[in-house]
Amino acid sequence: MSHFVLECVSCAVQSQPDLTTLQCAKCAAPVAVRYIDWNPASPGVQPPRWDAPPIPLPIANADSYVSLGEGNTPVIETPTIGRYLGLDALFAKLEFMNPSGSFKDRGTAVMLSVVQEMGAPEIVEDSSGNAGASVSAYSARSGIKAHIFAPASAPAAKIGQIRVYGALPHPIEGTRDQTTEAAETYYRERGLVYASHNRSPYFIEGTKTFAYEVYRRFEGTMPRHIVMPVGNGSLYIGAWKGFQELRAAGHGFDIPRLHCVQAEAVQPIVAAFEGRDWSPLAGVTTAAGGIAVGKPPHLGEIVSIIQKSGGSAVAVPDSAIIEWQKRLALSEGIFGEPTSAAAYAGLQQLAAMGVIEPGESVLVPVTGFGLKDALPV
Ligand SMILES: Cc1ncc(COP(=O)(O)O)c(C=O)c1O
Ligand SMILES: [Zn+2]
Repeated sequence: MSHFVLECVSCAVQSQPDLTTLQCAKCAAPVAVRYIDWNPASPGVQPPRWDAPPIPLPIANADSYVSLGEGNTPVIETPTIGRYLGLDALFAKLEFMNPSGSFKDRGTAVMLSVVQEMGAPEIVEDSSGNAGASVSAYSARSGIKAHIFAPASAPAAKIGQIRVYGALPHPIEGTRDQTTEAAETYYRERGLVYASHNRSPYFIEGTKTFAYEVYRRFEGTMPRHIVMPVGNGSLYIGAWKGFQELRAAGHGFDIPRLHCVQAEAVQPIVAAFEGRDWSPLAGVTTAAGGIAVGKPPHLGEIVSIIQKSGGSAVAVPDSAIIEWQKRLALSEGIFGEPTSAAAYAGLQQLAAMGVIEPGESVLVPVTGFGLKDALPV
């Protein structure tokens, strides 16, 4: 008997954990990990070098933990941009300092640990590039063969990174959503495990470490707002779950308001939040490839977290994304990729709207490293 079950996020039907359950058998909603009698005094397997509060993880045996040193990323102040936006306290958490250069390593470490523990020699993943590179790195580390589906238009650096780790790239001529369809057909036809960072319940168990680290860093002075670029919502949902767990374990603090930033070209979350209809337009794309997700499987959960956390969702034009990518590098020495810079374009909009007020503190995760994508011109 495992120390957790899988539970439907909509109708709460439960099933025993495995690598193949990606949605509820009854209503097709996503499934999430639910722990049974988890106790912080005997928390079980913890991430290596972990000094944040105890965290529940879906891993039974410490020997199964696949780690490349992910997490424990620095938080620094960004005072020049803070002053520019009229904010007293603006912090950046440098998620690009994870081993493959993006926050995805948090989720991948836990997902690949579960894959290793449950025993799958070959997996399939699809990605805009960063999750694919991350899964490739952790697959190399654990001796697992990885098939990575990515749009043929994905940045050369990300595809190159996938190859360097020895994974098998499957470039797909088409959109990010068509890439997902191709990966789904491939894993079903071959009976392989679909270790998708968008669909696997184990990925979010790793991204929630972000919330634990934010709590450890700020404790009684938690930021009032966190502003993130959101496509499928793995960091967004993970952060919320982590904060909820910390509160349930007795830590008293106000959960930051969690804001989603999307590109104008691809904005299903913003539209759903505002109660508008939206569907992807053929040929319309964005420089922020990491958030170019037309049909996020966790859309309902994301909108519910926006509402529960008092957050909001805004869409930003590509011109602002590129402008902010340059400003972040020029004024703070931080080189994020366009997807990461989108968060700052969104922050500017939220400050102008009065959703974020001058005296309030704000944290922005800089989710991916600048050299992974096209250089700003
Ligand atoms: C650099 C970067 N930031 C943010 C995101 C968005 O993550 P998610 O799709 O889990 O919301 C991605 C996803 O690929 C990414 O690559
Ligand atoms: Zn269900």
